[in-house]
Amino acid sequence: MDSIRIRGGTPLHGPIAIGGAKNAALPLMAASLLSDETLMLSNLPHVADVSTMANLLVELGVGISMNGEAGVGGHMGRVFALRAGDITETTAPYDLVRRMRASVLVLGPLLARCGRARVSLPGGCAIGTRPVDLHLKTLAELGAEIEIQEGYIEATAPNGLTGASIVFPQATVGGTENLLMAATLAKGETVLNNAAREPEVADLAHCLTAMGAEIEGIGTDTLRITGVDRLGGAEYSVVSDRIETGTYAVAAAITGGTVDLMGARLDLIEAVADTLTRAGAEITEIPDGVRVSRTEGRLDGIDVMTEPFPGFPTDMQAQIMVLMAVADGASMITETIFENRFMHVPELCRMGANINVHGASAIVRGVPNLSGAPVMATDLRASVSLVLAGLVADGETVVSRIYHLDRGYERLEEKLAACGADIERIRDESAGSPAPGEVEAGAGGSP
Ligand code: UD1
Repeated sequence: MDSIRIRGGTPLHGPIAIGGAKNAALPLMAASLLSDETLMLSNLPHVADVSTMANLLVELGVGISMNGEAGVGGHMGRVFALRAGDITETTAPYDLVRRMRASVLVLGPLLARCGRARVSLPGGCAIGTRPVDLHLKTLAELGAEIEIQEGYIEATAPNGLTGASIVFPQATVGGTENLLMAATLAKGETVLNNAAREPEVADLAHCLTAMGAEIEGIGTDTLRITGVDRLGGAEYSVVSDRIETGTYAVAAAITGGTVDLMGARLDLIEAVADTLTRAGAEITEIPDGVRVSRTEGRLDGIDVMTEPFPGFPTDMQAQIMVLMAVADGASMITETIFENRFMHVPELCRMGANINVHGASAIVRGVPNLSGAPVMATDLRASVSLVLAGLVADGETVVSRIYHLDRGYERLEEKLAACGADIERIRDESAGSPAPGEVEAGAGGSP
């Protein structure tokens, strides 16, 4: 397996192209199942999870042709033309769902279009049990009949789906996306109350609208969908990745550099920008992007609580912990979304961080220096936090198991190296490692 070697201590300077959001791309690709016409998606990131979703859709009968195009700031956004003319298969097999939990996003569209779907039940993953009970309960409220058999969700809607007023007891991004897609083709009106307000949900809703869906309340926690008989094709560009943006923003702040995040949108990262500003970084909007810099002084400790959007995202929790680890004074992180999302803590401690976890909170006492070490992580954002730690640590850090990184970060080491970081990918020739974005993602897929 490939690994990444970093020699820390260099401030980052330069532009970094921010790609399309992985977490928007996946539901948008699944939405292609709702129409027999072509959905043309651009600004897709070149990451392994997008390849996994493409493989799943091809297995279901979707025809996909792909192109690359030079996008903003040199970002090579991919363009996929997805056409689900005939859906030939309605089973999402264990092997693909196991690799990427977001495979469950085909459930709602398959049910709505074909009246049946068989999707392997995702298991737990590195960051918690992560059930899909709310997806199933709310689809049942639209009239789906759902059973669990031999590890598979067996869902049918022999008479089609019918609109209903749904109340999510807890906001769920994937659950909202599945219901939103299903409701576009249901009979009558569906109201989704306490819907997730993440920008990726809004991106999906805008794309569905372009395909002919009738949706009100986009961007709010109440989505009102009037079902239509059919959806058509559309052309749609994926929203920029706010988590990739936040990750490189932390990289600039901790190394004491200045980076221009091209294609980034400040309005999508307000909670992260506010946190970084309180810690002592400067964030400014520039034409077509966001500048992040810290050229003087040390960072200050800050307290953070993860929350649904527009709060501080759980997908930035591991990264901000690295900032806290090298800031002055004590910081506290409270994780409210996932119950087991501190798997990076022992590895950061091995690099010299002073972190104590008490239940859902972590107390981080800043240290003057981290020291390089061989480390590995069990999920995507935890892995990138170790790369960030390596950028500020004394000496050499080798992060292994980076297939997690390749699931969600496009050309991470190239982007950082172009800003002056001493970082390189060490290819495991014995494994015949494929290029990033084409890799077989590992088991236990998590965000
Ligand atoms: C999505 C993101 C992930 C992010 C997460 C929270 C994608 C592909 N992934 O994951 O990167 O970290 O949102 O912002 O977009 N829950 C239930 N029952 C359910 C569904 C969810 O109990 O049926 C719980 C989960 O265990 C978790 C919380 O609700 O504790 C939020 O999960 P959810 O918003 O559904 O996350 P995902 O859509 O899986």
